[in-house]
Amino acid sequence: MRTQVGIVGAGPAGLLLSHLLHLRGIDSVVLEARSREYVEQRVRAGVLEQGTVDVLNEAGVGERMSAEGLPHHGIELRYGGAGHRIPFERLVPGRAITVYGQQEVVKDLIARRLADGGKILFDVPDVVPHSLEADPYLTFQGERLDCDIIAGCDGFHGVCRPSIPDGVLSIFQRDYPFAWLGILAQVPPSAEELIYSRGDRGFALHSMRSPEISRFYLQVPPDASLDDWPDERIWAELRARLETVPGFALTEGPIISRDLSAMRSFVAEPMRYGRLYLAGDAAHIVPPTGAKGLNLAVADVRVLTEALAGLYATGSTELLDAYSATCLKRVWRAQHFSWWMTTLLHTFDTDDPYGRRLQTSHLDYVTSSEAAATTLAENYVGLPFDFGAPRD
Ligand code: FAD
Ligand code: PHB
Repeated sequence: MRTQVGIVGAGPAGLLLSHLLHLRGIDSVVLEARSREYVEQRVRAGVLEQGTVDVLNEAGVGERMSAEGLPHHGIELRYGGAGHRIPFERLVPGRAITVYGQQEVVKDLIARRLADGGKILFDVPDVVPHSLEADPYLTFQGERLDCDIIAGCDGFHGVCRPSIPDGVLSIFQRDYPFAWLGILAQVPPSAEELIYSRGDRGFALHSMRSPEISRFYLQVPPDASLDDWPDERIWAELRARLETVPGFALTEGPIISRDLSAMRSFVAEPMRYGRLYLAGDAAHIVPPTGAKGLNLAVADVRVLTEALAGLYATGSTELLDAYSATCLKRVWRAQHFSWWMTTLLHTFDTDDPYGRRLQTSHLDYVTSSEAAATTLAENYVGLPFDFGAPRD
């Protein structure tokens, strides 16, 4: 078998790349370790930046997102017995976020690729990348897929990054001393907007998927097990951490799914080796407090698409050669923002009273200064794709 771009992984990065390449007349094959049902049901991100929404709409895959996604124009930071709204409409006019589940984006992209005759091979768990420096190819289940370029879109635990020889990549990493327990509950959201709540018992987040489905997260110990968290304990802890302002009451209901996520910051540089290009979680991970991971994956594949379109149109590798440096600018901005939101809102066992006062002071600053609130807002809704140019 032969294709122009061999894509490993049918998460948001791999699927969107395949679709964007198709729109430019470039052929690809996607190899995915898991089943279609599995990738369509995997519950993860929920917040799409303005730029992500724009890319999906411009690529013609935003119809259901436009109909069912929930536009949000602010978030609440809750701490010290009060809620403080960060109003995007005032701080970053014209920019907002859309709450729309990652698995819905994945379903929309799979449906569109298959309708367009795209090749996605599911249940292929044994992919191996070969010959990354020239004439690359992928093997799987006794087959061989030759390609010009391999796109490693196989997430943090994939096979592409580890196939790069030792000593090539520089790794930057930070692990956090807690995890997130996430639930989906069949219950209307208890507030119209997301609530990021900091308290002495730990962080909690109120989010949603639709007018009927709520999504919640709790900061839990890093070694927590789902067995430790029966439904009553989850609701009691959510009440204790979120019902901290007068007049707010959580609406409870059946829990329909639960998951645990490690909290990690990670970057592998450069995001390329020979003919292998890494995109999304395969190259970088952020803790979810800034809601940036999926959005970074989309930004990466947007850059990669332009670079590959340049290659096939003119034979020039200029944009491909710049791929890693171009992406890493945004990646490091998101790294900083996600680390900052995480340290601002979680409790750390190692914090002394001085550290806790600093955290409160920082929260007071963000919720009272227009400049500080604008910093949060512009990062949260997502910086423009060409950000980074010096100001006059
Ligand atoms: P993945 O989604 O991990 O996809 C990789 C694919 O590759 C998978 O389908 C996997 O099965 C497949 N694969 C793996 N190994 C192989 C192999 N060897 N061969 C073939 N296929 C393979 N981001 C946001 O932007 N906003 C949010 O609100 C947000 N919230 C989050 C909440 C939680 C709890 C978590 C855990 C993450 C959140 N994220 C959020 C991050 C976001 O989910 C990820 O950044 C996103 O999934 C990255 O997409 P990806 O396509 O790069 O990787
Ligand atoms: C989600 O709804 O899943 C979500 C929202 C905000 C975050 C992380 C996850 O920061």
